[in-house]
Amino acid sequence: MQHASHERDAWGSRIGFVLAAAGSAVGLGNIWRFPYVTGQNGGAAFVVLYILFVLLIGMPVMVAEVVVGRHARRNPVGAFRRIAPKGLWYLVGFLGVATGIGILSYYSVIAGWTFGYFIKTLFGAFSRTLTPEESIEIFNRFVSHPAMSIGYLFVFLLLTTIVVMGGISSGIERWVKILMPLLLALLVILTLRSVTLEGARKGLEFYLKPDFSKIDGGAVAMALGQALFSLSLGMGAMITYGSYLGKRENIIVSAGWVCFFDTLVAVIAGFLIFPALFSMGLDPAGGPGLVFIVLPTIFPEIPLGTFFGTGFFLLLAVAALTSTISLLEVTVAYMVDEKKWRRKPAALFMSSLAFVLGIPAALSFGGVAWLSRLPRIGLGFLDLMNISLGNYSLTLGALLIAIFVGYKWGIAGVRAEVEEGGNVFFFRKIWTFLIRFICPVAIFAIFVYIVVTKNYF
Ligand code: PHE
Repeated sequence: MQHASHERDAWGSRIGFVLAAAGSAVGLGNIWRFPYVTGQNGGAAFVVLYILFVLLIGMPVMVAEVVVGRHARRNPVGAFRRIAPKGLWYLVGFLGVATGIGILSYYSVIAGWTFGYFIKTLFGAFSRTLTPEESIEIFNRFVSHPAMSIGYLFVFLLLTTIVVMGGISSGIERWVKILMPLLLALLVILTLRSVTLEGARKGLEFYLKPDFSKIDGGAVAMALGQALFSLSLGMGAMITYGSYLGKRENIIVSAGWVCFFDTLVAVIAGFLIFPALFSMGLDPAGGPGLVFIVLPTIFPEIPLGTFFGTGFFLLLAVAALTSTISLLEVTVAYMVDEKKWRRKPAALFMSSLAFVLGIPAALSFGGVAWLSRLPRIGLGFLDLMNISLGNYSLTLGALLIAIFVGYKWGIAGVRAEVEEGGNVFFFRKIWTFLIRFICPVAIFAIFVYIVVTKNYF
């Protein structure tokens, strides 16, 4: 039977949306990306900016996206078209779909690493004490191996495709319920060890004592991008997930929980990484390899380290999977709603596209020399995608969504949607102020600032 839009799938339980949205938000962004960009941008001062951006920009944009999605019951392109049939607003949806494919491609490369490290740990690669040099060496050898990186990328995209083919309530929701709490538990166990290592103190200082002299235009832009990336905002993932949300749910409460969980996990990840990192004498600005280099050095220091380490990388891979699912789902929802494709071929097609795009990213850690350090830019291919899509594209998307909701659609429409089913619109005045004034002005100012200071990366 042809797909018919009135038979749109929906979350199977009240808590389904919160779990799936938290699953989308919590992922490599919290545990891989947050510690390394924090390390590269000066530590505690960056964390302060990050939390500020979560509160002032992330939360209101999260509400905006979910409201748009639930009201329109469509993928991002269709949602803008339905609310504003005339004009070019649907292009914001296209930007989201394109960004989604791009992020999916390189994100799956890193997700593949977590899977590879799961296998490594399982087979005892980290059962004895390692020097930092040895850990770096193991990492470099692993990520520069072309067949390995591409193979794990493939495996990861395959897993993502299988879940997304299964649809919303039966596929995505079932998994997240059990695995997310487990991840949090393991994170806490490892963190307790990390903060009690000898020399952990310096790491805690780096993480908790702000030094604002380290903050420049690039760091401000990065903190905002990191907040949006971590909350899965700016590309319509929350529009898409919101489109499966029932009218009885309170959007403000749901969005609040998602932001809270996501920030909690990122903050804990910092407590896990920095003490261990300083106690090993590693460089906090070490870049994308940070988590993979630091963590294996603490496994031998805990009882049952191989067991906990294996569990940790497995759960990290699962957390990444619940994020790649949402990235793929955006593009699949677009093909299903707008192009009338069936779900399965749409998922296969889009993940194949992501695979092709992911290959240069997979080869950019030593696999192919020029991809690892692009001429003139000086960054690797994956790094470049991570910054251009994971920061700037999402930031632009969030700016346009805030303007759309605050001015084009308007507050009255939002209010009617939030208050459906007798729900209370908590913080309505504050939200209105943030979405109409703070979000657009702050984001625009940041764009201007980095262009003027030429401080893009
Ligand atoms: N929020 C996810 C993470 O932190 C990444 C992501 C970004 C997912 C954008 C969907 C959309 O890992």
